Amino acid sequence: MKEDKEALTETEVARIRRDFPMLRNVKTMQKHRFCYLDNSATSFKPDLVLRAADSYYRNWNANTNRGDYDLAHEVDQKYYEARKEVAGFIGATPEELVFTAGDSMSLNMVAYGLMPTLDNGDEIVLSEAEHASNALPWFNVARLTGAKIVFAPLDREGTVTPSSLKKVLSERTKVVSLAQVTNVLGSVIDVKALAGLAHGVKALFVLDGAQSAPTMKIDVKDLDCDFFAFSGHKMCGPTGIGGLYGKRELLVKMNPMLSGGGMNSRFDRFGDVFYEEPPYKFEAGTQNIAGAFGLAAACRYLASIGMDRIGNWIRHLRDEVYQALKGIDKITVYNPASPTGILAFNVKDIFSQDEATYLNSKGICVRAGLHCAKMLPDFIRADGTVRASFYFYNDEEDAKQLIGALTKGGDFLDAYFA
Ligand SMILES: Cc1ncc(COP(=O)(O)O)c(C=O)c1O
Repeated sequence: MKEDKEALTETEVARIRRDFPMLRNVKTMQKHRFCYLDNSATSFKPDLVLRAADSYYRNWNANTNRGDYDLAHEVDQKYYEARKEVAGFIGATPEELVFTAGDSMSLNMVAYGLMPTLDNGDEIVLSEAEHASNALPWFNVARLTGAKIVFAPLDREGTVTPSSLKKVLSERTKVVSLAQVTNVLGSVIDVKALAGLAHGVKALFVLDGAQSAPTMKIDVKDLDCDFFAFSGHKMCGPTGIGGLYGKRELLVKMNPMLSGGGMNSRFDRFGDVFYEEPPYKFEAGTQNIAGAFGLAAACRYLASIGMDRIGNWIRHLRDEVYQALKGIDKITVYNPASPTGILAFNVKDIFSQDEATYLNSKGICVRAGLHCAKMLPDFIRADGTVRASFYFYNDEEDAKQLIGALTKGGDFLDAYFA
C-alpha cells in the first residue's frame, strides 16, 4: 500500500481519471466541461469495481452460506474474501465486519440493536452537526426507551472537542455517536480522545464514518471506537452496500435489527430462535453479493493509491479554491479551517439552490441546501449552503473551473460582483 505523506501529482490524477467511465463518457455530452464536485453525496466508480460486481452475475451466481454444491462453495469463498478485504481496509477482522446496505442501515442496526440496553433517563450524546442518519435512529430509540438526547456543544469550527464532550458526559451517558468527518462543515473529531472520554463513563462510542472512510486511513482498533459505520458508494464502491464494524464482544451481545434466513441456526414453533455467530447474525436474507465484490475491489483500488495521498490531494484542491474566494466579501465560507475536501459557502443574498443552478449552467455539479444536517442552520446562521466536495479524481482544472465561475460571475452573479 502506498502510504507516503505526499499528495498525488497532476500526472497521476490524469491517469486515474481514465479509470472512471463517468469521466470518460459524460464529459463529451456537456456544453461545458463536466466538473463533478458532489463527491460527499456519492463518488464515481472505476472500471475495476464495475467488473468485480459484474463478475458475480457472470461467474459466481449462487446464493451464499446456503448451498452444498461446488459453485455455492466457491461463491462462499469469494464472499468471505471480499469481507476480509473490506474489513482489512478499516483495520478489522472479517468476523467483526457486517455487510449492510450502507451507513444509514449500519447506524440503525446499532441504535435498534442497543435498544434493550437503554433505560428511561439514560443519555445518548450527539452533536448538532450530525447527518439525519446519525440522529433520527437515536431519536426513535430515545422515544421508545425514555432515554434522552443530549448535544455536545460545537466549537467555532463546528467540531466536538474533548472539553465540549466532557461538559455533557455523566454516569447516565450510555452512547456517544458522532461523525468522524461532518458532511457540511468537514470538521474532524479527535476520535481517540473522545472515545477515551466516553469509555471513562462506561459509554459506547459509535463512529459515523460515511465521510471519513472514503478520505482517510481508518484503523478501528487504533481509534478504539466500539462501532464504525460506512457506505460503499461514497468510496468508489457500488450503491446498496456498506459496512458495520463492531467490537466482537459487542456484536455477540447485540440484538439483530433484522431477522430472516441465513442469520439463525435453528428456530421452533414455540418462538425459540438460535442465532448464527456474528457477523452472520446481522445479515438476514440474501445479501448484496455483487455489491460486496465491488466494494472489495474499491478498497483494493483506494489502498493502491494511498489514503494519505488521497486526503492530501483533496485538501490541496479545496484550499486552492478557498484561497481564491477568501478575499471576496460577497462570499462567505463557513468552514475555512476544514482539513478535508469539503468547502461550504454562500454568495451573499443568493439562495443556495440558485447558486447551485448557476454553477450547473457552467457544467459544475455541487450540492445545495441543508445536506441532511438539518440541525446545523442555527449554528452556522444560514438556511442552506453550497457544498463543493472534492475527490482524488478531481484535478486542478476542476478547482479552476469553480473559482472561475464564482469569481468572474457572469449571468446573474454580475450584480453581486460589480
Ligand atoms: C456524515 C454522513 N452520515 C451518514 C450518511 C448517510 O449515508 P448513506 O446515505 O450512504 O446511508 C451521509 C451521507 O451523505 C453522511 O454524509
